[in-house]
Amino acid sequence: MSLEVKDLTKTYNASHGKVTALDSVSFSVSTGEFASIIGKSGSGKSTLLSLLGALDTPTKGEIHVDDINIARLSPHKQTAYRAKKIGFVFQQYNLIPNLSALENVMLALEFGGMRASERKERARELLTAVGLEPDQQLRKPAKLSGGQQQRVSIARALANKPAVILADEPTGNLDSETGKKIFDLLHDLSRTEKTTIIAVTHDLDIAGKTDRTYMLKDGKITTKRG
Ligand SMILES: Nc1ncnc2c1ncn2[C@@H]1O[C@H](COP(=O)(O)OP(=O)(O)O)[C@@H](O)[C@H]1O
Ligand SMILES: [Mg+2]
Repeated sequence: MSLEVKDLTKTYNASHGKVTALDSVSFSVSTGEFASIIGKSGSGKSTLLSLLGALDTPTKGEIHVDDINIARLSPHKQTAYRAKKIGFVFQQYNLIPNLSALENVMLALEFGGMRASERKERARELLTAVGLEPDQQLRKPAKLSGGQQQRVSIARALANKPAVILADEPTGNLDSETGKKIFDLLHDLSRTEKTTIIAVTHDLDIAGKTDRTYMLKDGKITTKRG
């Protein structure tokens, strides 16, 4: 799925006045490409991802996903777009603490409409694909390392075969070695599944290995590489 962003602006009304989180941002990412976004805290990275994922609506501008401008969809259609096309990965893994890794992924499959009889098998496949051992798959998040929890959240993001994965600082809570492995895993996915990936990161080493890098500064975007 290709993505083309044109003139995207987002302003928030904060108590101290208007904040322009994104200022006429334009860029594109082609199908199967792995793009990274870097920038200091407060530069607009999370705002950009939330607009791309239709979690929020822009103040101005267009977001074309293939041929549809998702900024103009009705709330109902935005929800459908999110559910069908997007997988989210966050810095905080956002797993449900009282469910096992396997059950966390099965729940996502249930939301995606998969039949009960097929869920366990598919969840096992996904968790195996992201490198979780069978005994680890049965553990609750608290009994897994940070890197393993992030693998579970990636398996969950992949559950309904999204065309795009949006990852907001997915390695922010991991040591750099583990972070690199998580990025390698995302890279494999972009190649094998043709999943388009947009990942925010602070780690310039990691960003340098993606297909292209954009930089946000005070809500403005520049091409850093690619
Ligand atoms: N809901 C909100 N209300 C008001 N201001 C916000 C809101 N969300 C983000 N901002 C502001 O927008 C700017 C960009 O924030 P954000 O996108 O979270 O940056 P980043 O993810 O790069 O740290 C910051 O100045 C932040 O304080
Ligand atoms: Mg952020």
